[in-house]
Amino acid sequence: MTDTTLSSPPVQTGKLAWITGASSGIGRAVAIKLAREGYRVAVSARSADKLMELQAEMPDRIFAFPLDVTDRAAASSVANAIRASLGPIDLAIFSAGSYKRDSVRRFNSGAFAETLNLNVIGTAHTLEAVIPDMIARRSGEICVVASVAGYVGLPGGGFYGATKAALNNLCEALYPELEREGVRMRVINPGFVDTPLTAKNDFPMPFLISVDEAAESIVDGLKTNKFEIIFPWKMAFAIKFLHALPHRLRFALTRKMLRK
Ligand SMILES: NC(=O)c1ccc[n+]([C@@H]2O[C@H](COP(=O)([O-])OP(=O)(O)OC[C@H]3O[C@@H](n4cnc5c(N)ncnc54)[C@H](OP(=O)(O)O)[C@@H]3O)[C@@H](O)[C@H]2O)c1
Repeated sequence: MTDTTLSSPPVQTGKLAWITGASSGIGRAVAIKLAREGYRVAVSARSADKLMELQAEMPDRIFAFPLDVTDRAAASSVANAIRASLGPIDLAIFSAGSYKRDSVRRFNSGAFAETLNLNVIGTAHTLEAVIPDMIARRSGEICVVASVAGYVGLPGGGFYGATKAALNNLCEALYPELEREGVRMRVINPGFVDTPLTAKNDFPMPFLISVDEAAESIVDGLKTNKFEIIFPWKMAFAIKFLHALPHRLRFALTRKMLRK
């Protein structure tokens, strides 16, 4: 069972955000940026120690709520604990996710299931944990962190890309339904961002940006009416161009990404 007792008593001013995947990388950087902009931020991930370190940086603004998003019951009880302790969640940003390179020569459906379970089903658990309350209040905003990898099937990234394509499709489907209920849905599609997730990559990462640049793009995007927050613009342009090509041309380019 997830320990939801680590947070100190909250201040009750400022909008409340809940961020998953907040112990490192993009989620962590967005948590800090939102806290600096006056939000109270409930932060979740499995690593309670890292969340506590983050909370210690801004103890009156950031509150640790450890969670493994693959645990459906825990996702619901953590969301309840956040609401009970801090009030209604105004903004949910679901960034928990992971990436492992795959290969057709070692095709492993178990590895695919693991990635799907975290990136898609884990996100669904947290969506389920916030949607009913937001609908009941006819208020709130939900952002799912997917990836530009959801646009095009890239060699070695089939499992990951499929999960991110699923998230894009899901968010697109939910948008009008949630809009009718007074809730805003967005999808965040980052290009390459320098985080622990990409640090292990041994291939070229075009248009790589820092985690602070990513957080800035996300927080700036939250101030617009856009459904999709996609960055950096060069990667957005490149991936949308690739996506628009007929398959013959698309494969001519993706073939070049094959490993020897
Ligand atoms: N970096 C990029 O280039 C890039 C590009 C496009 C999209 N993205 C997406 O952005 C999101 C964040 O990635 P990142 O680059 O910031 O990676 P990261 O630094 O590895 O962060 C991943 C976060 O997810 C958390 N997490 C992993 N499994 C979890 C679980 N079962 N339950 C709860 N939290 C879990 C991790 O914390 P714990 O290990 O403590 O649980 C960590 O806080 C991911 O969805 C990723 O797919 C990243």
